[in-house]
Amino acid sequence: MQTHDTVSAMQLLARETHATGQTLGFVPTMGALHQGHVDLIRLAATKADVVVVSIFVNPAQFGPNEDFDRYPRALEADLEKCREAGAHHIFLPSRETLYPKGYSTYINEESVAAPLEGESRPAFFRGVTTVVAKLLNIVQPDLAVFGQKDAQQLAVVRKMVADLHIPVEIVAGPTTRDADGLALSSRNAYLTASEREGACAIPRTLEKIKSMVDQGERRAERLVAEATHLLADERRIRVIYVAIVDPATMKKQLTIEPGNSLLAVAAWIDQTRLIDNTLL
Ligand code: PAJ
Repeated sequence: MQTHDTVSAMQLLARETHATGQTLGFVPTMGALHQGHVDLIRLAATKADVVVVSIFVNPAQFGPNEDFDRYPRALEADLEKCREAGAHHIFLPSRETLYPKGYSTYINEESVAAPLEGESRPAFFRGVTTVVAKLLNIVQPDLAVFGQKDAQQLAVVRKMVADLHIPVEIVAGPTTRDADGLALSSRNAYLTASEREGACAIPRTLEKIKSMVDQGERRAERLVAEATHLLADERRIRVIYVAIVDPATMKKQLTIEPGNSLLAVAAWIDQTRLIDNTLL
């Protein structure tokens, strides 16, 4: 496994890989890797000959009062996990490489990115689309893997790639959960044991709502009300949003379309902001 920190090294790697008829798979990350990231890397390795992982805590996607400075960083452990998962190349750009002094070009997807996370974290998706477009131009992969855990991010990236004719296949990887149901997240490291217990109300709620749909409930309003009620029962949780949306457009649905309705939740557990979702 090799690490690289320049744009030219990655673009050379893409040329060489494609010249020998091999395919390139890419998993962008912000590091502090957990089993969810590892599973995405393994998935990429089943679909592409050469696997690139990027590790870059992207300042452009953090708001002024968010956790950029205290976002967990663990490079040595990350490299070991990448190696075990089957990555061949790691791209570790510096902030100056991606955003040199005077940097001034940003990408805005204006529809899928608008509701939910877009409403509660202004400028977040602008940062994500900008860095993902840049990374796709640098790595030039045939396919890029994104987690279903961040369902709106996945949908926004798919829309950007289609709108900008970026020649890459976007592959979705399923959400990896801990034994207690909580979706793995680098931010789980912030939770105390008691907060973690409270946070588990989120996956429990998703399961409960899914079972109501399995039993025939189709009214989105009824399901959103029940989910909100279940979450409100947990005193450590402050709900930011609960919504049932079309998984591609993020537009609200009134009626569940089994297999094509996304229940998305964001909540504060004390000072930690968590998101989760399930397809209904
Ligand atoms: P990060 O939060 O590090 O996540 C990297 C990838 O891992 C994303 O595609 C995310 O959806 C996926 N992921 C996170 N938790 C997961 C889980 N429990 N199961 C499966 N996949 C999971 O998302 C970002 O970084 C950034 O926004 C990025 C796309 C790298 C742009 O900066």
